[in-house]
Amino acid sequence: MQKVILGVTGGIAAYKCAELARLFVRAGSEVQVVMTPAATEFVTPLTLQTLTGRPVYMEMYGPESIERVRHVDLAEDADVMVIAPASANTIAKMAHGLADNLLTTTYLALTCPVIVVPSMNVNMFNHPAVQDNMKILASRGVSIMEPDSGELACGVYGRGRMPEPADIFAFTRSCLREKDFKGVKTLVTAGPTREPLDPVRYISNPSTGLMGFALARALQERGAEVILISGPTALACPAEVEMTPVNTAAEMYEAVMQNYENCSLVIKAAAVSDFRPARVEAEKVKKDKALDLINLEPTDDILKRLGQNKADRFLVGFAAETENVHSNARQKLERKNLDLIVVNNIKEPGAGFASETNRVSLIDRNGDIEELPLMDKEALSHCILDKIRLLMVNR
Ligand code: CTP
Repeated sequence: MQKVILGVTGGIAAYKCAELARLFVRAGSEVQVVMTPAATEFVTPLTLQTLTGRPVYMEMYGPESIERVRHVDLAEDADVMVIAPASANTIAKMAHGLADNLLTTTYLALTCPVIVVPSMNVNMFNHPAVQDNMKILASRGVSIMEPDSGELACGVYGRGRMPEPADIFAFTRSCLREKDFKGVKTLVTAGPTREPLDPVRYISNPSTGLMGFALARALQERGAEVILISGPTALACPAEVEMTPVNTAAEMYEAVMQNYENCSLVIKAAAVSDFRPARVEAEKVKKDKALDLINLEPTDDILKRLGQNKADRFLVGFAAETENVHSNARQKLERKNLDLIVVNNIKEPGAGFASETNRVSLIDRNGDIEELPLMDKEALSHCILDKIRLLMVNR
């Protein structure tokens, strides 16, 4: 996202666009704000000018207009236009080609992707005129972001509230991504498993699910159909991803097997427990007996089973190692019949469980090793997907 035109129209949610502008700026984008006259009643141009470090435009003509035409100039440069909040009035003008202010004129002059974030009273939003106008825009390739439901500024409850800036930011990024996994049915596992000892105790590990959830989100953004099977985590399911929550390795095994048939790509990022208590006590064990409790048995190795039954699916495993990192990972790739293994040394700073970042190596079937630098798990997900894409295409 290099150059973003942030169109702001008159609505109470306009105050939220200050935060949205900040998110784009922080991501390295150049943000040009264009406001309708009504928008300036809700948020001051000075606020947005200060946050973006650029003059905010409202008028068709300015001092530079002798040699340049402002709306054409803006439109030529832009990589994306995001209109948030988009009022019913501006949506109507856009749908019918009216060009009576800088925002609507710029919209007509541009060829880059356009994202509209409607925000209005629930009855206005549901009105057939507004719905029809949005359909017109959608049919012309404009991406419409569904408003949230909740308490609206007018005091009523319903659909029409502008989504949070972070969600609009994520939606924009997702609209701009190349859909190179379009239609690929993908199964992702994430998080830890919990193996109960009794009703109040379990064996588990510190996995938070961040890596698997980031992969599921990245896949969805790139057009894949994603089924996420996750052990217990505190994370929210990414938008438009189908999630099955599980607890134990046995439940994960069942859920994976139920979905395996229809998937052509499987990424097993879950930290599955390798063993479980051989017996689960029905009642809470008293502490004087607790030490006799732990008698373990192995769980099924889910990924190994998938590898035995692979057909032409593409299988990706993860390996968390503390020594002989590459050779251990290579052996796992062979043993489980994988196409790619993502391995990290969990002793390295910034890598491994519960960290926002990770440093991994990608090892493929040919033994090629790609060592990636330390990066956040979102960026890492896209690097892993780039590698998978390359290997899938050249298979
Ligand atoms: N895995 C799995 N089922 C298990 C254990 C692991 O599907 N019961 C998967 C993990 O999701 C991961 C890969 O296998 O993608 C490797 O997991 P890891 O724990 O690193 O390896 P293990 O095979 O369990 O070997 P070890 O614990 O001895 O290193």
